[in-house]
Amino acid sequence: MSNRQKVGTKRPVIAIDGPAGAGKSTVAKAIASMFGLRYISTGHFYRAVALEALRLGVDVSSEESLTALARSTDITICSDARGNSRTFVDGEDVTDRLAAPKIDACVSEVARVPGVRLALLDRQRSLAREGGVVMDGRDIGTVVAPDADLKVFLVATLEERVQRRIAQAREQGHEACRGAVADGVTHRDRIDSEREAAPLRPAPDAVIIDTTGKTPDETIAEVAGIVAQVIGGHAPGPDRGHEPEPSRVKGERACST
Ligand code: DC
Repeated sequence: MSNRQKVGTKRPVIAIDGPAGAGKSTVAKAIASMFGLRYISTGHFYRAVALEALRLGVDVSSEESLTALARSTDITICSDARGNSRTFVDGEDVTDRLAAPKIDACVSEVARVPGVRLALLDRQRSLAREGGVVMDGRDIGTVVAPDADLKVFLVATLEERVQRRIAQAREQGHEACRGAVADGVTHRDRIDSEREAAPLRPAPDAVIIDTTGKTPDETIAEVAGIVAQVIGGHAPGPDRGHEPEPSRVKGERACST
């Protein structure tokens, strides 16, 4: 059965996985906007636990402490009116703090802990079950939503991913030194790919796209063409995309931003 027949009238789930800097969030956000779907960045779950660990002084080398923290932290992720993924911890919007260098430095250590992953898995799976969503991460196609209607795995050379991370950090007001960014990306790649629980790897049925040397618009157009084939309809140009309604994903509060 083709993917398109499989989707039918059900709300589609699109998985976009790949290493840091491969372009996942840019592509996932644009695809969600173009096809009227919600965008969820699952890395924010792990970043939120890392933020809490730093805030509370939890030892990030203690798997037990991190697991207990992941179980007890109330993390809510929703998509706002502009299609951005917003993250709340115990009701507080922490989204803008999740990209800080100190979180980058320890989040892979947090995400490699099996107990942390287990504590966060149900929340991610319930988002996938609701459907109508584009989720980006490392294990969406393999573990969180193995039945996703479309699985895309984005890759790019280390050099290109480092350049993108530097540009992104500068946009967010963080100064970035090339050597440190390259070391950080290599370190995170290694931990994400070599960990025992849900390592970073493409699902056997993922479409692998190399984004090296491509502009974001080129990659977005390529992915949009595949999405249109799978879920039906035409791939709209970026200017014809529309913004999804704000939607609540977990917890009582609607996304207010
Ligand atoms: O995508 P990101 O950079 O925000 O991810 C932050 C960390 O979380 C990174 O180390 C990979 C990990 N992660 C994961 O293990 N599984 C996911 N589904 C999403 C992110």
